[in-house]
Amino acid sequence: MAGKSATVTVNDKSVELPVRSGSIGPEVVDIGTLYKQTGQFTYDPGFTSTASCESKITYIDGDEGILLHRGFPIEQLAEQGDFLEVCYLLLYGELPTKTQKIDFDHRVTHHTMVHEQMSRFFTGFRRDAHPMAVMCGCVGALSAFYHDSTDITDPHQRMVASLRMIAKMPTLAAMAYKYHIGQPFVYPKNDLDYASNFLHMCFAVPCEDYKVNPVLARAMDRIFILHADHEQNASTSTVRLAGSSGANPFACIAAGIACLWGPAHGGANEAALNMLAEIGTVDRIPEYVAKAKDKNDPFRLMGFGHRVYKNYDPRAKIMQKTTHEVLAELGHKDDPLLQVAMELERIALTDPYFIEKKLYPNIDFYSGITLKALGFPTTMFTVLFALARTVGWIAQWNEMIEDPEQRIGRPRQLYVGEPKRDYIPVSKR
Ligand code: SDX
Repeated sequence: MAGKSATVTVNDKSVELPVRSGSIGPEVVDIGTLYKQTGQFTYDPGFTSTASCESKITYIDGDEGILLHRGFPIEQLAEQGDFLEVCYLLLYGELPTKTQKIDFDHRVTHHTMVHEQMSRFFTGFRRDAHPMAVMCGCVGALSAFYHDSTDITDPHQRMVASLRMIAKMPTLAAMAYKYHIGQPFVYPKNDLDYASNFLHMCFAVPCEDYKVNPVLARAMDRIFILHADHEQNASTSTVRLAGSSGANPFACIAAGIACLWGPAHGGANEAALNMLAEIGTVDRIPEYVAKAKDKNDPFRLMGFGHRVYKNYDPRAKIMQKTTHEVLAELGHKDDPLLQVAMELERIALTDPYFIEKKLYPNIDFYSGITLKALGFPTTMFTVLFALARTVGWIAQWNEMIEDPEQRIGRPRQLYVGEPKRDYIPVSKR
């Protein structure tokens, strides 16, 4: 039976383009043959209407505020699961059985150490280097140490590299933090769970025992779950594009880290907290809301708005709940930044500008307050986002390599420059 199709008429010539349906969500018009049939390209610079791939990993309904990982709602995964379980789900497509979970956790735990020579990379940086700059460099350097898992055509090597990335990101992130504050590195401990191990590597010192607070460890683990994957966002698309050339997985993840750093993307959690600190008190909120609405003012409310969510980001609701739990546990429930954030949210959600443009708080709005309360400096916020998103990047990278339809990504352009012209000798210019 002939499938559905879309008719495109260009210069009085009509062409039929196949329409493809997914399991849920919008259908797509397959424009792969458009140029061949019409000599014309499509134009969509922000990819607002363009699907780059088929995927089974994550689904977002921006109008309904729905986020599913392999079909499971983020609310259920965050409340009932743990981060390594979500990693298994994203990588393999199903929740692990008890035996599979024990085996997966054991495999990840026993890959958390990095080559001892990795520590020499850190000493090349200034202590005040931004930890994201350090992460870009050190993660890319991993490919220099693990030649036995860079053959992307070998499924076994791809899975070894995937596990190494998931296991070693917390160690490298903690090393970046320790180097930043001038404290000695703390090695991973195999008797701690993933989130507890990370907090221990960040906050333990050789002078005394450090006991991880289980409430804070659970909050950290949940923050990792909330940041794990998010369809074809800018950094994931960067990882896919880098991977489409056959680059090794460590280099692709380093590219994703670089893209995530931008304040419009993963850098928004750092920018959102800096914005709340700049506003400072509730009485100054109207001044900043006016700036955000002023077309001539580049200021935006960081942590608000989203390309896909035109409803409340479901992760932000869970993040807000986690924020209250952490602040209560630490006795900071009257944190002035939280007061400013809650009042700013209330005002923005009733302001016609934000309602009309469907601007709601996103994951980054509350995460910064929580991470600051946990003891991290703002410069570490996007590093934590990268730590968690590594599993999403690596799952999408694997899916891209296994997709028979995928080939090197090479967009075209609308050329608006000079037509062909001849060279002019400098004596005549
Ligand atoms: C993440 O893609 C993902 O999935 C990303 C992410 C993930 O998990 O990977 O969810 C993580 O990156 C979350 C977003 C974090 N960024 C911020 O919080 C930065 C502030 N937000 C904006 O910069 C903006 O909302 C974006 C970048 C998030 C979305 O930009 P779009 O989709 O290109 O939307 P837009 O810039 O075209 O904005 C639409 C309108 C514009 O007004 P008009 O030109 O139509 O008059 O809304 C306005 C914008 O000026 N607007 C804002 C605003 N965000 C958009 N106005 C004030 N404050 C804001 N935050």
